[in-house]
Amino acid sequence: MMKITLCALAAFALVCALPQDPSQAQAQPPVQIVKQDSEVDVNGYNFEFETSDGTSRQEQGEYKNDTDQQGLSVKGSYKYVAPDGQQISVTFVADKNGYQPSESTGDNQPAAPAQA
Ligand SMILES: *[C@@H]1O[C@H](CO)[C@@H](O)[C@H](O)[C@H]1NC(C)=O
Repeated sequence: MMKITLCALAAFALVCALPQDPSQAQAQPPVQIVKQDSEVDVNGYNFEFETSDGTSRQEQGEYKNDTDQQGLSVKGSYKYVAPDGQQISVTFVADKNGYQPSESTGDNQPAAPAQA
């Protein structure tokens, strides 16, 4: 029993001794932009960028003016590596029906807001 208690205390002390702030754990190289592109015209826009830390973002917006929709119809996606190392990836549509995330990976997704 004493051994188990000592082992538990030692494990607890080890966890407490680990650096709490990830930025102190190791010096990271500065994040760099590895890809960047954008176009804008009267019919819409698109842009994309990617950074060296595994973050990327892309989006296309099309101006619609028909019986179905008047305004922007947007499609896009973003990816990033969460602080716990997990790759998060989301694709979405944003149009007359609002923002609609359509695909997600990673177990640590923020919960979707409750529907009214
Ligand atoms: C949208 O379409 C209507 C009908 O064709 C037109 O009158 C209007 O000027 C258009 N609006 C824009 C901002 O292009």
